[in-house]
Amino acid sequence: EVTSDMNVVVADAVDDAGLARLRQAGHDIELATDADREELLEIVADAHALIVRSGTTVDEELLDAAPELVVVGRAGIGIDNVDVEAATDRGVVVANAPESNVRATAEHTIALAFAAGRKIPQGHMQLKDGYWAKGDILGSEFNGKTLGVVGLGRIGQEVAKRLGNLEMDLVAYDPYLSEERARQLGAELVDDIETCFEKADFVTLHTPKTAETEHFVDEELLSKLEDGYLINCARGGIVDESALAEAVEDGTLYGAAVDVFDSEPVEPDNPLLAAENVIVTPHIAASSESAKQNVSISIADQILAAFEGDIVTNA
Ligand code: MLT
Repeated sequence: EVTSDMNVVVADAVDDAGLARLRQAGHDIELATDADREELLEIVADAHALIVRSGTTVDEELLDAAPELVVVGRAGIGIDNVDVEAATDRGVVVANAPESNVRATAEHTIALAFAAGRKIPQGHMQLKDGYWAKGDILGSEFNGKTLGVVGLGRIGQEVAKRLGNLEMDLVAYDPYLSEERARQLGAELVDDIETCFEKADFVTLHTPKTAETEHFVDEELLSKLEDGYLINCARGGIVDESALAEAVEDGTLYGAAVDVFDSEPVEPDNPLLAAENVIVTPHIAASSESAKQNVSISIADQILAAFEGDIVTNA
């Protein structure tokens, strides 16, 4: 048990609220947000805690470069960038902040659904370029349409509740959810993802990236969402990006909205950037003021618990 003087390395930018809490407890904070990989491998040599978001890959190489490490704090929900097994093998605890950015992500999902459905970015861009596109833009309403939620967990449920209020029918695919919970949420639970895509007009993805979900939204599945929209604020690696760009370009889908990419920061030649009716944001679904603060505080508390030998409740 150690209660002060631990070294906390911050590899991806987080709000200062949590860092202030760690400083107050007597720990040293080293900001490594501008460090490249080689520099980070050196910086972590005496780290007791490492704070990351999605930008840093915590793999065996990084863990081996940090022999003093006690805890990795993932300031967010997804832990696909952390090799949890390798960390556990080395006695390193992995903690995340599973609650703090649920609402922010749900709200961004809804914002993107509207933006895609009503072609708001397209109209905005054209008008800024001096072109009055009133006659060219035709959007889709939500009222009376069907929302397909893939992954009815914390975020999926928040999205379903809110869009359900717009009088959308709800269909959900989630192999881990009970029929009863789905019923409570007013959603029809379907046994396979294909049926979810077939029935829906808008599909929103809320699953983690795992071996099971990697690129599981492929050309065949997208063909079942005819004249629909796909919204992805979950993880880039769960969608075949070329297949999505093509499905939108060839008119199979009316549009798509994407916040997360296979490779981030996104490469300029990513096919999703070139497809006009794919609207994009740079992985900012969790980036609201309050979510950033809450995530940072939550992860600081987890790190303090790990330092003090208390139970780390998350991840
Ligand atoms: C998450 O998994 O919570 C998000 O990726 C948060 C983030 O943007 O870091």
